[in-house]
Amino acid sequence: MKPFKYFRNYFYYLKSFFNRQSRICQICLSVTDQCNSRCTQCSAWKSYLLDPSLKEKEFKLSEIEMMIKTSKSLNFLNTISLTGGEPILRKDLIDIAQMINKEHKGIRFFLQSNGLNSEKLIERAKEMVSFSDTTMCVSIDGINSTHDKVRGIKGSFKTTKQTIKKLHDDGYEISLSCNITPANYLEIKKVWDEFKDIVDYFSCRPIAVGAFFKTSEKNEFVLNKKQRNSVIKQLKNINYAKNLFVYQVSRILFNQKRFFPCRAGYFSVIITPTLDVYPCSACPEDWCFGNLRDVDCNLDALLESEKGKKIKMMVNNCRKYETEFCINEPEFFSTAHFQIFRLFFWLLIHDLPTLWKNFFS
Ligand SMILES: C[S@@+](CC[C@H](N)C(=O)[O-])C[C@H]1O[C@@H](n2cnc3c(N)ncnc32)[C@H](O)[C@@H]1O
Ligand code: SF4
Ligand code: SF4
Repeated sequence: MKPFKYFRNYFYYLKSFFNRQSRICQICLSVTDQCNSRCTQCSAWKSYLLDPSLKEKEFKLSEIEMMIKTSKSLNFLNTISLTGGEPILRKDLIDIAQMINKEHKGIRFFLQSNGLNSEKLIERAKEMVSFSDTTMCVSIDGINSTHDKVRGIKGSFKTTKQTIKKLHDDGYEISLSCNITPANYLEIKKVWDEFKDIVDYFSCRPIAVGAFFKTSEKNEFVLNKKQRNSVIKQLKNINYAKNLFVYQVSRILFNQKRFFPCRAGYFSVIITPTLDVYPCSACPEDWCFGNLRDVDCNLDALLESEKGKKIKMMVNNCRKYETEFCINEPEFFSTAHFQIFRLFFWLLIHDLPTLWKNFFS
């Protein structure tokens, strides 16, 4: 069965080049822009302060249900990142996840959090794992005052560290997520050393500049050559650099290129709390596929429209992944899933146990 599955995936990969058809396996669903943090690199927390009416415009459970039930491009959906804002602040978060799980049995969830509200997060984690395969993703952007400064909340490192520890003690699968910026570039390895014994996965990436995070003042977040070299050195000293994503991050920091061409919008999309759909978190505002409310919540109607095809053409021609620090997990992993030959050879050279687990056992 497995070789068949891989050849079928490769067939879809080629097909996506020629007829620009989407086959979404991963959605990054932002359920709210409410946020209890004040991060420097993300403007989600400002949204409802600037325009309180946006809270009322958040999608309803019935709208996401409609999208899930009517969109054929989601037939092979296998992963959902529940993000935000701070997703646990959304009251019907668990109802949303349960509905998706009912329609796509066995789907994998990533629940992202800043870890500031420990009690609520653990409550939600408990509910999520009672019916689904869920990994808890918690953000740490440096040690002590560095994290506090990046995240704009005094004492947030201490609180989030305690949350991660509690999640670990309760047996949850944890992925640690770290942004790399000029403010914390010296501490990437320190973050790894501090948490390596209590987390299952580690992910780090340079900042994305684009419509989703509303980060437009680029210079403040771009690493210079000296900073990049320092991060590469640190990543080499992290055993976890065997991780394909982290390996690609080192690669783009080194020569600003990665070996999977970006297929955002083909295999993954990002959906905002008011149901705008984007191919990725690093694209400009005018790459929005449109709003699901305008098409009865049918994602196919946005992705396969003339405008949708034009946007996907722009993704084909987008060289940001070659020229800038453009890498994000939802797009990267869904593309890797279809780039089966390259994936196979990378694992053959770098990670035989994972190769065995995924391709042969
Ligand atoms: C937007 S947050 C939402 C979940 C939660 N509030 C948190 O901070 O983890 C999801 C992830 O995006 C990361 N992030 C924030 N701003 C970013 C940016 N400009 N570029 C790339 N990642 C960013 C966060 O650090 C976090 O790991
Ligand atoms: S990164 Fe997360 S915690 Fe920080 S402002 Fe954005 S949504 Fe809030
Ligand atoms: S390379 Fe891909 S992820 Fe980056 S901006 Fe272009 S389309 Fe988006």
